[in-house]
Amino acid sequence: MSLVIAIDGPAASGKGTLARRLAEHYGLPHLDTGLLYRAVACALIDEGLPLDDVVAAGAAARGLSLTEFDPERLRSREMGEGSSVVAAIPSVRAALIDMQRRFAARAEGAVLDGRDIGTVICPDATAKIFVTASPETRAQRRALELAGRGEPVNYALILEDVRTRDARDSQRALAPLKAADDAITLDTSMLDRDEAFAAALAIVEKARG
Ligand code: DC
Repeated sequence: MSLVIAIDGPAASGKGTLARRLAEHYGLPHLDTGLLYRAVACALIDEGLPLDDVVAAGAAARGLSLTEFDPERLRSREMGEGSSVVAAIPSVRAALIDMQRRFAARAEGAVLDGRDIGTVICPDATAKIFVTASPETRAQRRALELAGRGEPVNYALILEDVRTRDARDSQRALAPLKAADDAITLDTSMLDRDEAFAAALAIVEKARG
């Protein structure tokens, strides 16, 4: 039977790391769905278009090619902010649904992480985890990540980004960031990476029965 694991949560909650480790553990493919929204923002920025250009954003989402991604560039702070803006545009979300569902429909299963995986993309996922952590913890983690990539780090600004992105992602009308009714919430504020992984694994194993 296929194993579909849906991981949702706010920016810098650690969901990407958890998703990657779960995928490795179970030998499943992993899709970081945030990259799709980041790639749409990147397409607009590269063309010098505003992020709220609804027509261009929809066209960019429909023309997206997974193989042309440059994950390094997409993971920058600028793309993080931009992706949260384009993610609120209905035509962008509509254009990306099929791609994500096809990924999840592979015979062996898949691990997907994002904001609406458990609620919209894979409502029948085998296991759903909603990963969260305090804004301060998340800002600290993001600061370390950006520093590691050689980007300038301003903690106050990063915390502000985290809060702005939380508000935008959870207050938008379509597919907002929220835990599915049947998701298990995992707060990683007090957990290191290995402890968070062990907790996530326990949730998946329980869900598999
Ligand atoms: O996970 P991330 O930080 O890379 O996501 C970037 C933005 O993309 C996030 O602020 C909101 C949007 N997003 C979304 O709306 N739905 C998803 N499934 C994944 C990301």
